[in-house]
Amino acid sequence: MPITTPKEMFARAYREGYAIGAFNVNNMEIIQGIMQAGAEERSPLILQVSAGARKYAGQIYIMKLVEAALAESDLPVVVHLDHGPDFELCKACIDGGFSSVMIDGSHLPFEENIAVTKQVVEYAHDRGVWVEAELGRLAGVEEHVNSAQSIYTDPDQAVEFAERSGCDSLAIAIGTSHGAYKFKGEAKLDFERLDKISSMMPGYPLVLHGASSVPQEFVEMANKYGGKLGDAKGVPEEMLRKAAKSGVCKINIDSDIRLAMTANIRKYMAEHPEAFDPRAYLKPAREAVKDMVKRKIRNVLGSSDKI
Ligand code: G3H
Ligand code: 13P
Ligand code: ZN
Repeated sequence: MPITTPKEMFARAYREGYAIGAFNVNNMEIIQGIMQAGAEERSPLILQVSAGARKYAGQIYIMKLVEAALAESDLPVVVHLDHGPDFELCKACIDGGFSSVMIDGSHLPFEENIAVTKQVVEYAHDRGVWVEAELGRLAGVEEHVNSAQSIYTDPDQAVEFAERSGCDSLAIAIGTSHGAYKFKGEAKLDFERLDKISSMMPGYPLVLHGASSVPQEFVEMANKYGGKLGDAKGVPEEMLRKAAKSGVCKINIDSDIRLAMTANIRKYMAEHPEAFDPRAYLKPAREAVKDMVKRKIRNVLGSSDKI
């Protein structure tokens, strides 16, 4: 199956009140685990590559791995740049065959965010590529941005931003954050704000970043076998499911995949201290990615049997 554009994927997800999972990919085992989950659930998928993943694996390498995965699959799959820091990196990914890019100008003043997004939109749309932008700021580390506090997205500004920049989808800040330590106390998302934004932008696909749930059984598993993950806490799954019914068409998940892999590798190594063949511990890690993505598709996204 060739790489797909998000257009029809999001249109159907919006109509039917579910979301497409955007899973971060960094190596072969992660790609294989996600693809196996999608195949078993008959779910469309977004494989997203961050600037960090591109640096780690190399753009051509990661693209060839994705192409290999798609060659033996009938699933619709979008290949997306996650948190593109500037026009040049977005251009490199568009030129390299990505079907979707994110330009993340969320740390910039409003007018500068519009200007850089518009520049990417002009280049991308001429080549049939989708553009996601971000308005508002998530707490935590966003690769090139490290913000101590989140700044929630203003609904009026969201409308103006999408109109003036021409972006196809918009990531908004309503209380999620990146990483495994999202809430000190009770988890809380600003659903009133989400409902306001989606009612002011009918039919428009919204995106939720920082949407890992950090399932406690994996935190406990990692800690049991030598990890030190302390108070790791994520967004409850039912909150994300609710967001998927309110105009959120794309939900980004990275930390939960990292957690599932690491907890399982720690367990394997602790139980097999003699092991040193990487295949021995990467196999359960790949299986853990598959199980985690299947769990997301069922409990959070609602995207099973949407092919
Ligand atoms: O939002 C960021 C993603 O989790 C990617 O993280 O820059 O470490 O690849 P990364
Ligand atoms: P998590 O850290 O919650 O998995 O968020 C990932 C993300 O937003 C990638 O863009
Ligand atoms: Zn993100």
